[in-house]
Amino acid sequence: EKGGYPHFMLKEIFGQPKSIADSMRGRIHAGNESIQLGGLTGYFDRLADASRIIFIGCGTSWHAGLVAEYLFEELARVNVEVEYASEFRYRNPVIHPGDVVIAISQSGETADTLAAIELAKENGATILGVCNAVGSSIARATHAGAYLHAGPEIGVASTKAFTSQVTVLALMAIALGRRKGTLPDHTFRELLNGLQSLPGQIEQVLRNSDRIKEIGYIFTYARNFIYLGRGVHFPVALEGALKLKEISYIHAEGYPAAEMKHGPIALIDEDMPVIFIATRDSSYEKIVSNIQEVKARKGRVIAIVTEGDQLIKTLVDFTIEIPWTHEMISPLLSVVPLQLLSYYIAVMRGRNVDQPRNLAKSVTVE
Ligand code: M6R
Repeated sequence: EKGGYPHFMLKEIFGQPKSIADSMRGRIHAGNESIQLGGLTGYFDRLADASRIIFIGCGTSWHAGLVAEYLFEELARVNVEVEYASEFRYRNPVIHPGDVVIAISQSGETADTLAAIELAKENGATILGVCNAVGSSIARATHAGAYLHAGPEIGVASTKAFTSQVTVLALMAIALGRRKGTLPDHTFRELLNGLQSLPGQIEQVLRNSDRIKEIGYIFTYARNFIYLGRGVHFPVALEGALKLKEISYIHAEGYPAAEMKHGPIALIDEDMPVIFIATRDSSYEKIVSNIQEVKARKGRVIAIVTEGDQLIKTLVDFTIEIPWTHEMISPLLSVVPLQLLSYYIAVMRGRNVDQPRNLAKSVTVE
């Protein structure tokens, strides 16, 4: 059932070209003219009229919510908040009937997310779900939603569910931007073409797995890692660090790159590997100067860069190239090498990759 792969996690990482295509299947219509999310029919008006959208989730699903914050603000110009379900439910949050809460959950069984939904519902908000498990408790507790259709995810570390969550949330943000008139035609087309090219582009990243494995080998015995990114890549940095922590048991922190000089820069010396997501997008120049700051303190830098990048190669220890795509959907590509890097490091450390210690696939108790 692992389809020839040594672990479910690797199978799921390599399954992403297909799972992402499955998440989009039947949702982009006639010559890229429109997006249709069947499960949201009847609730799309509410979404378009929302005074605020609140994403809730835990772990990787919360990271998908953070990516969605950039997407929904940029493409649909709507007020967005992203909350850990566990904090939201105990905080006496201010919730209005005009709010739309979007709960993100792979399993659909996470206790804190479910409780947060009930609280928001009692306060009159509209609740939408972005779940993978069909008919799960969260899917049933929401008013409407869009399923991931990513297929079952067995590895405890979430990989293909994350990319499908971001894919579905991107479709929602694009559809909403279109509806609200905040998304110019050319950007709409660029994003839809970009989404459709993703499965092939992920194949391309996966073909590079040997290089990622070699880099993993070099850093197998590192004791700490820092992951840095800006904009949409800040949540990717958090996700990369979480992946490494949970399956290799190496301490790792994700930070927005600009926050580095507010503290974490003190950690940097020749023993500190720093992973930058440094693709060619609106924060490229800024991230280049962050890389220089780390190199000036002798940190060892691995950078995820856009293919063809020449500058960063001259500054860092290792680069991993990924194809170019529209910035708003680029987390779907930049996260893949980070998943692979964690996987290879964990395997080389002899960890139980699919079932790391102390963790459960779905956290049904708070
Ligand atoms: O099933 P859910 O998406 O609600 O699960 C949320 C988290 O428990 C989950 O993402 C967890 O952080 C993963 N182990 C991360 O890889």
